[in-house]
Amino acid sequence: MRIDILTLFPEMFPGVLGASILGRAAAGNFASYHLHDIRDFADNKHRKVDDRPFGGGPGMVMMCQPLVDAVNAAEAEDDRPATRILLTPQGKPLDQPLVEQLAEKPRLLMIAGHYEGVDERAIEQLAPLEISIGDYVLSGGELPAMVLIDAIVRLIPGVLGHEDSALEDSFAARGPDQQRLLDCPHYTRPREWAGREVPEVLLSGDHQAVEQWRQEKMLERTRARRPDLLP
Ligand code: ADE
Repeated sequence: MRIDILTLFPEMFPGVLGASILGRAAAGNFASYHLHDIRDFADNKHRKVDDRPFGGGPGMVMMCQPLVDAVNAAEAEDDRPATRILLTPQGKPLDQPLVEQLAEKPRLLMIAGHYEGVDERAIEQLAPLEISIGDYVLSGGELPAMVLIDAIVRLIPGVLGHEDSALEDSFAARGPDQQRLLDCPHYTRPREWAGREVPEVLLSGDHQAVEQWRQEKMLERTRARRPDLLP
């Protein structure tokens, strides 16, 4: 998968994209990340990409021309059609089904908005999928873009070490009715720590009993913490 990222702050990305699963995915050619600095497309010598809002009010608005030129230049770098995404608190709330859909795409182009927002005419022109990572406001779309990239790239087949690990996550669709539950508790050595024991069934070697216990814990947790996920 090719991922293009358009931002005013490209320096925020290399650490996150180079480490852990995202770094391994790039090293293994499962994903490639391409950063584009929107400021490079400013058509003035001050490299100005934002201006005061018409009608007044606080903050600055990202101008149409640099952004649309940046999108066109990024898209021209590769023949594959890009699914355009704008990270914004006004977008569709991100959830695992949406992540799964996006993980199937050959190419994503993510626009990290900044300041008070993006000139609405650029949004109309580009018609991106608008995505929010939650009902809170961040200073820009950079961290949301990184969140989205992480959630997507780990689903690309071959990226996770153990082929099944994404199937076992919280929110993964499981079983015949494809229920999405919270994950069960996990334990590792030692068997006893600070007077706390590991649940006996996990030491029993009885795979069926372990599976049943995990299923029960997942349901119990989901009922207690996220009843909205249950039918
Ligand atoms: N930009 C600022 N806040 C955001 C959010 N919650 N989701 C996506 N993009 C954002």
